[in-house]
Amino acid sequence: MVPFYVDMTSRMIVAPGIEVEDLMALPIPRKVNAQDLKLESYEYITNEDYNAIEESDKKKVMEYLKVCSTVANKIKNNFDSDRSESKNFEINDDLIHEYNKDIDTKEDHVLLKVFNEISKKSVDQNQNLVDGKLNDFVSDLLQKPEYDLSLDMINRVSKNERLIRTLVDIVSENNVPKKEIKVLEINFNKNIFAEEIDNHLASAAIYPIDVDYNIAVKSTSNVKEDVRKSFKVTEWDVEKSSFPVDVTLANLVVFNDSQDLWDLSLADFLQELYDCISSKGFLISVFRYRLTEPELALNALKGKNNVNERDLIKRINDFAKEAESVGFSVISSKSDSIGTTALLFRKIATKEPELPDDKNVIEINDKTEQWFETIKQKLLDQKESERNDEEIWLIANDSSKNGIVGLINCLRLEPGGETIRCLFNCDNTPVNFKDKPFYNVLANDLAVNVLKDGHAGLNFKDVMFATGRIASGPLSLFTDCLIGIEFAGRRRDTGERVCGFDMSRCFATSVDAMEQCITTIPDNWSMDDAVTILCTYSTLWYGLIERAHIRKGDSILIHSAAGGIGQAAITICQNYDMDIFATVGTEDKKKFLMTEYNIPENRIFSSRDIQFKFRIKALTKGKGVDVVLNSLTGDKLEASYECVADCGRFVEIGKYDLQMNKQLGMFSFLRDISFIGVSADRKLFMDKDFIDRFFDWMHKNCNNGMIKPLNKNIFKAEEAEKAFRYMTTGKHMGKIVLKMREEENMKIVVNGYTPAPTLKTTTKTYFNANKVYIITGGLGGFGIELLHWMLHLGARKFVLTSRKGVKTAYQKYIVDRLKSFGVNLQMFRSDIVVSTHNSNTIEGAKGLMAEASKLGPIGGVFHLALVLNDCLLENQTFDKFQETIDSKTKIFENLDKITRESKLNLDYFVVFSSVTCGKGNAGQANYGYANSVCERVCELRKKDGLNGLAIQWGPVGDVGVIADTEMSALSGIVKQRINSCLDTLDKLLQSQKPVRAKRLTQSGTKESRIVSQIWCALGIDPKTTPDHLTLGEIGMESMFAVELQQGLERDYDIKVSLTDIKNVTIRMMKDFENGKIDELRVFADDLKSCRNKLSKIKFIIPTDAFTKLNSGKTGKPIYFLPPLEGIFASLEALAEKMDRPVIGLNWIKDMENMGSLKEISKYYIDLLKAIHPKGDYDIVGHFYGALIAMQMLKKKAPIGKAVIIDMLSDIKIDEDMMSDDYLLELIITFIAKDLPKVVKDKIRRDVALKPDPNSKLIKISDELKDFVGKSLVSRDLEDILINSFKRAKLFSTYRFNMKNKFKKIKIEIGRKYLEMNGKLLIIKLFEFGNTKVSEVDQDMSERIKNAYFLPEKGLEGKLNFETIDANPESISLNAFEKISFSMNEFLSKK
Ligand SMILES: NC(=O)c1ccc[n+]([C@@H]2O[C@H](COP(=O)([O-])OP(=O)(O)OC[C@H]3O[C@@H](n4cnc5c(N)ncnc54)[C@H](OP(=O)(O)O)[C@@H]3O)[C@@H](O)[C@H]2O)c1
Repeated sequence: MVPFYVDMTSRMIVAPGIEVEDLMALPIPRKVNAQDLKLESYEYITNEDYNAIEESDKKKVMEYLKVCSTVANKIKNNFDSDRSESKNFEINDDLIHEYNKDIDTKEDHVLLKVFNEISKKSVDQNQNLVDGKLNDFVSDLLQKPEYDLSLDMINRVSKNERLIRTLVDIVSENNVPKKEIKVLEINFNKNIFAEEIDNHLASAAIYPIDVDYNIAVKSTSNVKEDVRKSFKVTEWDVEKSSFPVDVTLANLVVFNDSQDLWDLSLADFLQELYDCISSKGFLISVFRYRLTEPELALNALKGKNNVNERDLIKRINDFAKEAESVGFSVISSKSDSIGTTALLFRKIATKEPELPDDKNVIEINDKTEQWFETIKQKLLDQKESERNDEEIWLIANDSSKNGIVGLINCLRLEPGGETIRCLFNCDNTPVNFKDKPFYNVLANDLAVNVLKDGHAGLNFKDVMFATGRIASGPLSLFTDCLIGIEFAGRRRDTGERVCGFDMSRCFATSVDAMEQCITTIPDNWSMDDAVTILCTYSTLWYGLIERAHIRKGDSILIHSAAGGIGQAAITICQNYDMDIFATVGTEDKKKFLMTEYNIPENRIFSSRDIQFKFRIKALTKGKGVDVVLNSLTGDKLEASYECVADCGRFVEIGKYDLQMNKQLGMFSFLRDISFIGVSADRKLFMDKDFIDRFFDWMHKNCNNGMIKPLNKNIFKAEEAEKAFRYMTTGKHMGKIVLKMREEENMKIVVNGYTPAPTLKTTTKTYFNANKVYIITGGLGGFGIELLHWMLHLGARKFVLTSRKGVKTAYQKYIVDRLKSFGVNLQMFRSDIVVSTHNSNTIEGAKGLMAEASKLGPIGGVFHLALVLNDCLLENQTFDKFQETIDSKTKIFENLDKITRESKLNLDYFVVFSSVTCGKGNAGQANYGYANSVCERVCELRKKDGLNGLAIQWGPVGDVGVIADTEMSALSGIVKQRINSCLDTLDKLLQSQKPVRAKRLTQSGTKESRIVSQIWCALGIDPKTTPDHLTLGEIGMESMFAVELQQGLERDYDIKVSLTDIKNVTIRMMKDFENGKIDELRVFADDLKSCRNKLSKIKFIIPTDAFTKLNSGKTGKPIYFLPPLEGIFASLEALAEKMDRPVIGLNWIKDMENMGSLKEISKYYIDLLKAIHPKGDYDIVGHFYGALIAMQMLKKKAPIGKAVIIDMLSDIKIDEDMMSDDYLLELIITFIAKDLPKVVKDKIRRDVALKPDPNSKLIKISDELKDFVGKSLVSRDLEDILINSFKRAKLFSTYRFNMKNKFKKIKIEIGRKYLEMNGKLLIIKLFEFGNTKVSEVDQDMSERIKNAYFLPEKGLEGKLNFETIDANPESISLNAFEKISFSMNEFLSKK
């Protein structure tokens, strides 16, 4: 922690060594959590459930079936002459039409599609199909893959969480504490369950579970590609083998029955199933037990080979009977009441369970001291004993407020805890394991057993009700809702017609606005009129009248003048007799202004370009306008700014460029002009008098033509979506009004008002500003955030409890800040009381309630107080164990008791529980137990008609008890950002179920889990983040990079250095997520080899005039001219392959001052003469080195032979070639040519941010050093880059100038070459592709000649061409081989 000081007056933050000035907070659209968030509810579900489907799902299926039946019935009527039997399904055509809309996109509407196809067939007068038999047609249709009924909604049972999920949960609960599970799914239908079941299993515990999932199918073509990719899919040919795959010891087999398997011998099949399942493993089998009405209708149309309900029932009975006879026990059976049933079997070795020893039965009740030591000892014994399969039974039989479920969930994860079983007998009847239902509990040997209402074998488990991505937090700093700032309606208390402002939330049927923000509506306005006035006219009154002081006769340019603000501005300005110029976006709008506002055509311009600037200048004789009312952006803003006359005013009402911090030239201020930035919304809520003054002006001018209600498009509340869509089309002129209810005709005061229509809405939490909210433990990490969030959503009165009151500087800072906030922004004024009453006692709790009541009626309790004492039970002390329990349960139970006694039904009675309680966590048995008790309190309250809600939070990342605890980012336990928690809280508080859970889950493959961790850690949404960005650029923390690096090495044997982890791109991570692991490996290898290469290059400017480049000793030397970078590293491989000594002519420091190619070539010729006075030199030049070589060849220079490796003929000679950007790109391509594209691209992006070529080159050097690290010999790297840049500029300029000259004095230049002594070979490198090119064609030879300014004719015999198949930008060793072969041959020729 770094201490820091915040000074609000100067807006400075000062910490040791750092000062931040003028801090400005702007919300940024970063997606905070890209992971799947699961919202779950915990409730009681019987193991025998015959209505295992959510009511809403059932309704949906039933409606669909009715639609299908109606269509089926129509078909029947069409085909049957006897129509008397037809049923009326009460489905109207509109609904059918709705279902048929876009039906092709509705994957699960197969049945309906089938009926649609049939109904398209025509029949003759005898009611027979015109082209064939109906039965055959239907049978054929059903054979087609797109009409496979297993994909129909009715068969998509895996989507029904209540049916399958509840069974899968039993399986995973009993898999604890193992971290992996093996599953085999046998499914001959297309509706594979794997994705859903895998997901449930993988996220069932607090840590991720590795699911080894195999699927046996009839044909892999039945399986979707992504399923095939994610799971092991095997085909099972029933004819050939009696069992699908060689899976042994599966912990779970999922069997989806299919008629294809009915011929198998059940006895054999079940025996094989039994054999492949591990001891105490499970079998889930899914059957159809009934055919629905439309399915029967379809069968009738098909006419043959139909199964009936009797067959289905018989199949299930036979299966269950056979299963029991091979040794399975039925644990649970669920049916969706529509047509599907699922059975859960368990492989139990012994039929007769052993009765537990009395000493192993421990009663759990609220007297912790009675059981704490016993369990602790038992666990220790279990751990130490050789034979640790003795089961320990924890039994709760005292009250339904028992925390046993949370307790066992945690204990089972502790050493020795596997053998613990629990029985929660909510009926409080004596437990006797010899009798039913207790005997069955014993026999089934499930870990967690809950008995309730006389039903046996029940199970407390979660049913997920929704899963999805929760949008990121609000964009606004003050409120959660950004839209709707003005409203009109009637006062509830007086019935008066009023209009006013409220900080958002005005798209509502009722508004709780502040008195000072409301005014009466003038009688000559309707309510619709009033809402068109408020925002528009307040902005203009403030911008034009109060700030810009418009005067009679002023001229004004009004942009987007047909819009709401524009029209209002015209009205005001016409009232001021001003000279108006306007811009509009379309011709229609222009006509509108001409007819409605009498603006002459020649004063209306387009707002789509900047022509208006010239037109206005012309019309005002160059003077410009006195006032510009601007809302345009970019170049149009600049053009508008230039339209302002001397001493004029520029009134900016658009926000975009202001937020983008766009710069405007100061020069114009010399002309005495004013820039006025208008933020009326800010003024509205910050300046108390502002609204008063505006309302005053409004009332004075509502009748005299200064203010006129605007044109409007009115939409009904039900059409809100349409209204928003309409707005985005930009077609509207004036305002768009959303009308919640019709206005009564009378403009007078009326008591009672027309109710608003019933609307389909999304509920949102809103707190009552007059009520008091108690937050126990409110000064803790979560509490302080909750406080802010509630404030944001309307709450203003709080009592926070704490044992010792405000202690830390942070707590004090928060409390003080909220107080000062209220001083500046009155509407946020809040009362915050910190109470230290000890609510662990009933008196203390009463004191707390009394203290809170002083502030107002109590609206709710949020119980957050907690003292955490994590420790494995074997090391735990009783006092610490109890302290945690008390901190949670006592306060909550006390407040429950007191509020019940005083008959207070609070709006909220919430406890913050934890996933520890629902899923278990080792070391938190006390916490799990305590939360569990609180959850039961909530259930009882709900049962009694009171509000009560327990929320099981997952670990929170940024604040609170575990924020600072180390948790491996890859451990799979995901910490959630607090703002995401609060987003969800909004939804959870609207929930009707007493126990809710919310946490981030990790499902999918190991790779996708790792990657989703990365998205989360980086706080990005991968969908909208550009693929090319690297993890380093996005800001991956080093700690996380280390973890990722270690993870890749440990699990995938991919060795990537820490620096390279930061070079990994989003694209690569996405590939990795999709299982393309090798790409990351290849990338890592590439980086390694490239780093190797670079570290061998010595970036040192040579001091000697020449260097020997190969080991050749005999023969005439070959002289290499220096490449662009001045060092020979890139040509060493070629030199090595030459059969004569190769000498590199260095580019030494002294040459940097040479300003022309002529000078350079002269220098080298002189140098050669000095080395080897005899002359007849063989020289080689590559790229720009080729230019030097060519220069040296001219006239009668003593050159014997010259070889040029050409690249220049591919570079167009134009002005661009001399631009800094082009030259920099050249440097990156050459110097950094070996770098992988990703790194090169990153360098390009970083370089682009630097202002001038020099700093850009230094950046390239830094990046290279950073990339290669210490092993890079880079003494002169920076200079080498800077010199290369200069050289490149020199050569480019030479070429550009020559090109111009060449056109004119071609012959003269050419002549210089005609006189040359030597012979020239030009080697052209390019990738042949499919063409076999051996010779340079006419075209190419012309291009090459032009590139080096050679004459077209006359060089015959002296000039030779050669082509080589190679990539010129990165010449491979193989290419060097070919080049050197050609060169050696040419140079050795006489
Ligand atoms: N943070 C998480 O990751 C997370 C996850 C799941 C659930 N939760 C739940 O969220 C709640 C808040 O957690 P947190 O992270 O904010 O914890 P926290 O920072 O430790 O805050 C809890 C506060 O409770 C106060 N407290 C303890 N005993 C009290 C008592 N008898 N009377 C009044 N106040 C008392 C403590 O303040 P004093 O010392 O001033 O008394 C402490 O600041 C807890 O109930 C926790 O179970 C948190």
